[in-house]
Amino acid sequence: MSEPPASLDRAALQGARVLLGVSGGVAAYKAALLARGLVTHGAHVQAVLTEAATRFIAPAQLAALTGRPVPTDVFDDAHRIVHVDLARQADVAVVAPATANALGKLAGGLGDDLLSSTLLCLTAPLVLAPAMHTEMWEHPAVVANVATLRERGVVLVGPEHGPLAGGDEGPGRLAEEGAILDAVAAALAPAGRGSGELAGVRAVVTAGATREHLDPVRYLTNRSSGRMGYAVAGALARRGAHVDLVAGPGELPDPPGVTVHRVETAREMHAAVVERAQDAAIVVGAAAVADFRPAQAADRKRKKGATDEPEQVTLVRNPDILADVGARKRPGQVLVGFAAETHDEEAHGADKLGRKGLDLIVVNRVDAHDAGFAVETNRGVLLTADGQRIALPLASKEALAETLVDHIVARRTGADLPERTPPR
Ligand code: CTP
Repeated sequence: MSEPPASLDRAALQGARVLLGVSGGVAAYKAALLARGLVTHGAHVQAVLTEAATRFIAPAQLAALTGRPVPTDVFDDAHRIVHVDLARQADVAVVAPATANALGKLAGGLGDDLLSSTLLCLTAPLVLAPAMHTEMWEHPAVVANVATLRERGVVLVGPEHGPLAGGDEGPGRLAEEGAILDAVAAALAPAGRGSGELAGVRAVVTAGATREHLDPVRYLTNRSSGRMGYAVAGALARRGAHVDLVAGPGELPDPPGVTVHRVETAREMHAAVVERAQDAAIVVGAAAVADFRPAQAADRKRKKGATDEPEQVTLVRNPDILADVGARKRPGQVLVGFAAETHDEEAHGADKLGRKGLDLIVVNRVDAHDAGFAVETNRGVLLTADGQRIALPLASKEALAETLVDHIVARRTGADLPERTPPR
């Protein structure tokens, strides 16, 4: 996975009191880099290690980097209730790495050591950066714990797909330092510490493909990975927006500071978006929504039958999410769409812009090797409702998302676009 773009708003870390929890996994040594990164951005860092973490990283190392003693035991100081004090003194907490055990204890409300007891006392925002072997990450108990924690508003960053200890490879690798720093900064932002042109603004973004079921084991879908929508959601959050990302099934990690709502079908996505779009100043439709669904989803597996007769599947139209949001558009709302095309892209894009009541549409080809579905880059043309045509040269999806958000911000304020360095 590519390095996330440098954050526009890590300024929230300046002066923030960050509790850095480290639990006992091989990736614990990376907590030293994270501590240094937080300190470099002006944060006051208090590290807390579990007993197991001390086998992977020395408390003295973190103490030297943060300039503070590193407690590991609830009874380290007989004169104060250490876990209560530590929790009260934090503006934000981050656990990196968070092992399966740490996630499980937190989900279950257990406090049997200093870190878990401190986290139970915490009222500040909490960011968890899980790291473990793929088998553990995918165990149903861990999946359920992660879902519980997400529901409680805990922010998860990573894990990423990549090489793991012992020569294995898969999802489970600790998120990159930059992504964790961004997540911590974004978690501070709602508490009023952050800033940005979109502070206090609500945005809804759709991403990924939908699945339209034929029967309990089969569905119709498309090649969208969701990367573009995730990048837009992350870019809006970095400018301070409160972002609801309504995403189809996929493996991508939650963007820092974004509330993710997972859906499967176009109709579920429609319901989740229409409800939230009423209060949103910005709505971006980056999902590749299936236009049709099987008229009937069988509740038992469809069988082949005895003959080779062609099997008929009747498809019916799904709702057009963006068109419905466009039909109810409030004054001042900015609506943005994407048009993924294989031919006559600008004509089709312009048509969709008008038909769906959009302010901006990104038009791109999906038959190129470096743009469109399931690749890390994109390029295209941005068309505006007032007839402008702006070329979007080849860039990472993250860089393109930043450029798009520049245009959204300019649209809201009517301001001239800021000068930007050319996208990577
Ligand atoms: N869109 C949507 N709901 C749908 C279909 C599309 O919200 N049911 C949104 C997409 O998220 C995108 C824009 O509309 O922002 C254009 O999507 P696209 O699939 O290119 O266009 P369609 O309207 O489906 O037209 P066609 O399939 O004919 O190209």
